[in-house]
Amino acid sequence: MNPTSKLSMTPIHIGVIMDGNGRWAQKRGLARTQGHIEGLKAGKRIAKAASDMGVPYVTFYVFSTENWKRAADEVGFIMGLARQYLRAEFAFSRENNIRVRYTGDLSGLPPDVAQDIIDTCVESADFTGTQVVLAINYGGRDEIVRSVRRALAEEHEISGETISAHLDNPDIPDPDLVIRTAGEKRMSNFLLWESAYAEFYFSEKLWPDWTADDLSAAIEDFRKRERRFGGINGIGNRGQVFR
Ligand code: FPP
Repeated sequence: MNPTSKLSMTPIHIGVIMDGNGRWAQKRGLARTQGHIEGLKAGKRIAKAASDMGVPYVTFYVFSTENWKRAADEVGFIMGLARQYLRAEFAFSRENNIRVRYTGDLSGLPPDVAQDIIDTCVESADFTGTQVVLAINYGGRDEIVRSVRRALAEEHEISGETISAHLDNPDIPDPDLVIRTAGEKRMSNFLLWESAYAEFYFSEKLWPDWTADDLSAAIEDFRKRERRFGGINGIGNRGQVFR
């Protein structure tokens, strides 16, 4: 099969900017934190749906390097959710054969949360299904800076290839599709380097309302796009194999 055949394309890596938790709660007269609880449930729903659909990689933007500017009690609540759920959701990962990974600067997180993330990644390392990447204390610019520092520490020349090779997860292909919910049309410092040729899908729906059908619709929309990777004939430059 022609590897660039538009109709057969399933994204290999989907990035998700989960926006609208706060608005979802406010619309219902609830505290913003309730929106984050529902946002977490939506995260599980979409991770399961991606796994059922055979999407190999999904990166969720859980907490950005800019999110520390939020009110201290909201930041504390999100860190508390991570504490409460990361280890507790191991059964969910095992049942769905989901490997959990992370991207971001763990050194800026409360040490117990950082340790929970590391433990979750280690314990799920042998699961062979969908890989769910949690972008936590993550910033795209921050990741590029970390990559350049790693490359320089190993005395590499700085080039596109060496920057790609020293990102947090150099083995993970660049995202083909980046989804943003809740009507905003910004990248907000998400996977800046990796999204150079990503297709974008914007949804008006608030993140806690997202279901498997919304993910299917985004993938269907992606299948209609003609990807050129800066070229003229739709042939990718990453050696990527579409199914
Ligand atoms: C976006 O809504 C929410 C966040 C950036 C907070 C963290 C996300 C979760 C708790 C969900 C976790 C999911 C997984 C997969 C681990 P917002 O607060 O920016 O909403 P608003 O724009 O309506 O205020």
